[in-house]
Formats: sequence, C-alpha cells, structure tokens
Amino acid sequence: MDKYVIQGGARLVGRVRIAGAKNAALPILAATLMTDQECVVEGVPELQDTATMLEVLRSLGMEVSREGSAVRTRLVNEDLSTAHYDLLSTMRAGFCVLGPLVARRKRARVSMPGGCNIGPRPVDIHLRGLTRLGASLVVEHGYVAAEADRLVGAEMFLGGAQGSTVLGTANILMAATLARGTTVLEGVAIEPEVQDLARFLVCMGAHIDGIGTHRLEVEGVEALEGTRYRIIPDRIEAGTFLVAAAITRGDVEVENTQPEHLTAVLEFLRERGVTVEKSRAEMKIRARVERELVPGDVFALPYPGIPTDMQAQLMALLCTIEGTSTVHDKVFPDRFIHAGEFIRMGARIAKENGSATVQGGPPLSGAQVQASDLRAGAALVLAGLAASGTTELSRVYHLDRGYVRFESKLAALGARIQRARA
Ligand code: EPZ
Repeated sequence: MDKYVIQGGARLVGRVRIAGAKNAALPILAATLMTDQECVVEGVPELQDTATMLEVLRSLGMEVSREGSAVRTRLVNEDLSTAHYDLLSTMRAGFCVLGPLVARRKRARVSMPGGCNIGPRPVDIHLRGLTRLGASLVVEHGYVAAEADRLVGAEMFLGGAQGSTVLGTANILMAATLARGTTVLEGVAIEPEVQDLARFLVCMGAHIDGIGTHRLEVEGVEALEGTRYRIIPDRIEAGTFLVAAAITRGDVEVENTQPEHLTAVLEFLRERGVTVEKSRAEMKIRARVERELVPGDVFALPYPGIPTDMQAQLMALLCTIEGTSTVHDKVFPDRFIHAGEFIRMGARIAKENGSATVQGGPPLSGAQVQASDLRAGAALVLAGLAASGTTELSRVYHLDRGYVRFESKLAALGARIQRARA
C-alpha cells in the first residue's frame, strides 16, 4: 500500500489541467450496455474506478479498449447478466449496470453495494423505481436478481429522505429509455453528471425531455444506437485544486473546467476573501489569495448547492482561517470521519449530528493520518500542504480511485509531495 509524504508550507502557484468527470464517466460507460453498436466515450479519466467499470463491462460480455482517454465499447456476448461482488464491492457506481441490464437483456443479477465510510448508502429508491417500471426483483444472497420481459413506462417520484439520488436517477433513467411507453420521473437529481448521462442517452437515440430540471419525461424506444461522446470535466477535481490554492494562500488557474458547474463553491470561496476569476468561454477558473480570509458556514446540498464531495476539502480550508465556522452535510450527514484526522493535525473541531463546528486559527501540524474515503483523502492532502512539518497520509488507494496523477499535478504547482511505500 502506498502513502503520501507531504512537506507543508509551500505556496501553490501555476496552472493545472482537469480530467474528465469520474462520476459522469461511470454511468455513461454502464449505458453502453444498452446497444449492440460501437460506442466511443472520450474524456474518460484514467483512474482505478473507471478501470473497474471497464472490467465490469468485460465481465458482462463487452469488448472494451482504451486509447488514452477514449474508451471504445462493443457488445460480443449478451448472455452474461451477472455483475459480481468481487468487482462491485470496490465501487458502488457498478450498481448502475442494473437498469441497463434488465432493460436490454431482460434479466440481471447485480451484487448489492455494501456499507461505506461516508455513511449508510441505501439503494431502496433504485429498486423502487425499477419495480415501478414492471421489473420483478428479489434480493437474496447479497445480489439483486431482476427480470422483466419488457419494462413499461410509469410515473414516479424519485426522492428520498435526503432529497434526490444521483445514481438512482441514472439507473432508472437508463432503464426508462428502453421501456414501452412514457415514463415521468419527478424529483430527479440534476447534478451535471446526471445531465451528461441524459445527453449521452439522447445521442444514442433516447427521447428525453426536461434535462437539467427535476422532472424528466422519457418516451421509450425499441433500441439505442452506438455513438461518440465527450464527457464533461470533473468539477470536484477542479474544486479541489481551487481549495489547494486557497489553503496555501497561493495562485492557481484550473484549465478545462466548466465554471457554471461550480457556482456555489466559487461563491463560498469569494465570501471567504479568495479572489476568483472565471472564463466560461476559455473554460478556466483562477483562484488567488491576496488578503486575510474570513470564516463561514458550509452547507453541502444536492446540486446546485455546495457538493458533499467538496465538504471535506472546504473543512480543511476553514481549519486554517481564524474564527468560528460550521460545516453541515445534508446529503451524507455522517460524512465526518476526516474531522477526527484533522484533529490529529491540531485542528479544533466539535462534531454533532450532521454538522461540525470548526475553531480555525491554530496552525495545523503535520502528522500521520489515514484517508477514509476519496474526498477525505484529498482534504487531508490539502491540510498537509498547509501544515507545518511532515504529513504522512496512508491508504492513498482511495485517492487513486478519483484523482488522475494527483501528486504530480500538485508537485507541478510547487507542492512538496511524494508517493512512497507505506
Ligand atoms: C453519487 O453517489 C456520487 N457517486 C458520490 O460521489 C456523491 O457523493 C453522491 O452522488 C452525492 O452527490 C457517483 O456518482 C459514482 P446519492 P450516490 O444516491 O448516487 C440517499 C465520490 O466521492 N439515498 O445521490 O450513491 C443517500 O443515502 C462519491 O466521488 C437513499 O436514501 O449518492 C444519500 O443520503 C462519493 N436511497 C442521498 O440519498 C437510495 O436508494 C444522496 O445519495 C439512494 C440514495
């Protein structure tokens, strides 16, 4: 297992290019199961999670090849319909092969996702939605077995206790594109990655109205076609580098980004005193610190709010700002394991149900810490960059799931970070 060794104190300066969005790539790759024609998906980031998804597709009878960031898929054997635990236990997004498989192959056996370090991750809405489309489902021996001769369009509400669901919307939307008749989905997630999936499906020949709104109307079609498509840039990777600029009081420009996907994060950084410049046409955002930053409150919410996937990184930043800040996660109220690791680095954080109070100001000091999940890991790297002395971050495999060449991109901006054997 690898670890990162970080010498804190360097101010990050320069430009960094953002990769394609992991969370758009994963469901879009799953959608390629729904056609017997060739698909080419461009901008697929070279990450552990996308590699796992390509393995899942291969295990389901797809021929898959990759040239740089372009992935080519083609169906060779449609008899396979089991997505095994060995692959899906490492990546929850694999669960969104369920909708495509039952819609096109009429049956599916997909491993139930397990628990996870960011809190409970139920899939009840996915299952409810597929049942409403006429699939018969049985959950046994850790798998969902689903069958349907042909799915049938239906009207349904896709929200839950915490609001909309990203992968739940993806699963049901994909299934609905091949259902007979009209499906109306209310309360759907509108995250840019869900919109990207919907646009990909339209390129495959799906009929979807209302993309970007909480109500999608889908007119089912008999078959979907192959297509060529470029996925959106990763807004969370971009946001993480902007916070890296802020936490080191540096000056960083992120390239290949869509500023309109980060409005709430940019607003939050501006309110803290960070100078933010953006160009939608040039797909760039620059963040630099020219004055003292001020504390503030983070509310992680479904899109267009601050993403829960940025909550940990923003908490790291608030630890370095004098004064009292609060952090609330309305999407995953238990997603606070990183707070304990920040405390090991000298942060003053009090945690209570779904929120944390940060008394920022005391300098962070380098320590041995662990990444409990992808974004917690990224946040601990940021904290290490701002801390005095050496931080050793273990369980770096979490970061390999979601950040392309993270340490070399940071090093190119002046960070003193190295990968080493743990
Ligand atoms: C996606 O997970 C992302 N993963 C997560 O990113 C992200 O944190 C999350 O959306 C929220 O934005 C991928 O896209 C691969 P949800 P997902 O269903 O879809 C509850 C990362 O670091 N819920 O939108 O699994 C759920 O418990 C990852 O890149 C139900 O109650 O999240 C949560 O409170 C981590 N029943 C809320 O909805 C369900 O059936 C939102 O979760 C499904 C979800």
